[in-house]
Amino acid sequence: MAISRPGTTASRSLGGAGSPTGWFPVARSAEVQTTPVPVGAAGRAYVVVRLRPGAEVTALSARCPHRLVPLATATVVDGRLQCPSHGWQFDAEGRCVAIPSLGVDGTPPPRADLSAPWAVEERDGWVWLAPERTPLARPPRLAGRTPTLEPVPAPPAPDGPVFGNLDPALEHAWHPVARAGELVEGGWVQVRLLGRTWTLHRRDGVPDADPPAWGVLERHGLVWIAPAEPRDELLDVPETTDARFTAVWLTPARSTAPAGLLADAFLDGARGRRPPGAEPQESPEYAVSPEPGGFSGALEQRAVDSAVARRRVTYRYRAPFQLLRREEPDSGAVRTTLFLLQPEDADSTRVHTCLLLHGLGGAAVVPADVVAAERAAEEAVLAEDLARQARTESAGLPLQLRDELHLRADRLGVALRRALADLAANAAVADRAAGLQRRASA
Ligand code: FES
Repeated sequence: MAISRPGTTASRSLGGAGSPTGWFPVARSAEVQTTPVPVGAAGRAYVVVRLRPGAEVTALSARCPHRLVPLATATVVDGRLQCPSHGWQFDAEGRCVAIPSLGVDGTPPPRADLSAPWAVEERDGWVWLAPERTPLARPPRLAGRTPTLEPVPAPPAPDGPVFGNLDPALEHAWHPVARAGELVEGGWVQVRLLGRTWTLHRRDGVPDADPPAWGVLERHGLVWIAPAEPRDELLDVPETTDARFTAVWLTPARSTAPAGLLADAFLDGARGRRPPGAEPQESPEYAVSPEPGGFSGALEQRAVDSAVARRRVTYRYRAPFQLLRREEPDSGAVRTTLFLLQPEDADSTRVHTCLLLHGLGGAAVVPADVVAAERAAEEAVLAEDLARQARTESAGLPLQLRDELHLRADRLGVALRRALADLAANAAVADRAAGLQRRASA
């Protein structure tokens, strides 16, 4: 079953170590079916897969160009490889042939294509790759030997900086660290923030922190810490003090994904917040407006649980990790989701989620069964988002826009990257100024 590309010659041998020319055995043929298998050849990361049962093997680069999701998590759909995040589909040559957010008439840009090795071939029960044009026509015969496989490299990292959970700029921001109710008078709670352990106390009703922080306060039912003078602004959420709203806190979740990626996933809802298993939708047109400390975006969206219902959805963001989504269906009901992230450690983010509900179920006070259904639905979506982001195995959110491929549906995500880049730049300027001042006064 040969799948080699045109132009091969007749000699046969293995590629030299570190050289991208030559043939590299990457997997047993029988192990490659319709689930992508991550492999390595000449230090490059690929996935190999059959796009239909029994079909020839396809080899493609290991990351989706959109948001760098590892394609080892992709699935085969109708003879194409489909990325799990936003449903981009790739053919056997790596061409991107469908992007759901562009709609059925949308044309994927050339940069959306995956790269592929020069050739892939099966021989003697093994799959071989030739990453670059090679003078060797076919892989060598093994004559009963078992080849040594290269280790599978991590998929390529972004060229530019990424914003991780221990970025120094986060010292200059407010962070949620505990539910206010957890911290009783005279008691204490230990929390993790920015790679350090903090002990919270409440004395005479006032929370404080040890080691001392620049500021400790309560807002939106949470205790917040600013380790150093903050450069950010706290999000204003009128619903939290409006007696017409029912507040429903989800049990705090924890993810190994960095907070920047989780914030990006939350804003991804502009494409249509999807219940688990739902197909990606065409993205509506929307604009992003800058606001002090962040931005907002509003759009008309088709409800994911209805073929016809539409609703107005507003996203509001404050750096670094305060996010809100307000959904207002025509009925006059309001469903607000407050999504607040606590960067605990490089590989740990705690997620505080509160639903603020009004008018759902057609009653002044939201009925208990509606509250339970809303909570369950949000928990299911959150669990899928957290699992998906954890699978990206990224140290942080890429800040250099050309490291990913952003389309019109990604405006909120682009604004997020710019806001975090601004926060990092402002904090660096402030730290430099403080350093100069210290040296001058020493
Ligand atoms: S479609 Fe692959 S990350 Fe978006």
